[in-house]
Amino acid sequence: MKPQETFQNEIKKQIEALGQDRDMLDLTRIWTRDTLKHKYSYHFSWLARPIIQYPQDIVALQELVWRVRPDLILETGIAHGGSLILSASMLALLDYCDAVELRQTLNPTSTKRHVLGIDIDIRSHNREAIEQHPLAHHIQMLEGSSISSSIIEKVYQIAKNYQKILVILDSNHTHDHVLAELEAYAPLASQGSYCVVFDTVIEDLPAQQYPDRPWGVGNNPKTAVWEYLRRLKEEGRQANDGVPLGFEIDKEIEHKLLITVAPDGYLRRI
Ligand SMILES: C[S@@+](CC[C@H](N)C(=O)[O-])C[C@H]1O[C@@H](n2cnc3c(N)ncnc32)[C@H](O)[C@@H]1O
Repeated sequence: MKPQETFQNEIKKQIEALGQDRDMLDLTRIWTRDTLKHKYSYHFSWLARPIIQYPQDIVALQELVWRVRPDLILETGIAHGGSLILSASMLALLDYCDAVELRQTLNPTSTKRHVLGIDIDIRSHNREAIEQHPLAHHIQMLEGSSISSSIIEKVYQIAKNYQKILVILDSNHTHDHVLAELEAYAPLASQGSYCVVFDTVIEDLPAQQYPDRPWGVGNNPKTAVWEYLRRLKEEGRQANDGVPLGFEIDKEIEHKLLITVAPDGYLRRI
């Protein structure tokens, strides 16, 4: 066996063991619960735009983008734009690496790789900062509810121009909303790509963690994922490319991160 294979096999075993380590899982649950009280996920930025994510999930997204090499990243939930800039920066790196590999001159503004962000309320100062960012040429934004038929229609029109799509859902975290987003956008995820559903962790937190929010235990992105996977299995759905749609939860990502707001939320299209 080649040394790199031995190394990868060792890592696989270590991650599996981590995912079974009760003490680590308990520590993680407590750590997550208590950091959320301090709004920990609001304390970071990506290339100067505030991003509402845990650093571990940011690293996972980097791994996914490199693995999938999407030409379109569809994101619901823009807020300050940090996650759009993160996706745009990864797409810019893919462009850069392609140019190096093909010994071509890179013309950033003629990129074929884009992020499409949707938010019900794009505040003017956030829009301005995103539009003025050096990576703005990778970004298109739509304002409106992610589950409105007019937005869904626009997204499908835009998606026609792309081959490899990665979907990230991070807007309203109620069960019904996320389930509707999954019904609308999961079929756009390409073969081998992912539909990432954030804030599934709400299901694992104490019931009183979000007293001022409509979501909570039993009504959140994780319950929506479970219901959607049940529908896929029992009722079936068609992917946008015409074949039966299937997803599996990528537990390896979750086990290696331990700290993630997306347990059961990394859905790999199979
Ligand atoms: C958690 S924030 C998004 C964080 C962002 N993805 C990031 O990582 O920085 C949630 C966003 O979803 C938006 N939102 C809420 N309801 C929505 C809806 N029905 N459709 C689209 N966006 C919605 C909110 O306006 C808010 O900006």
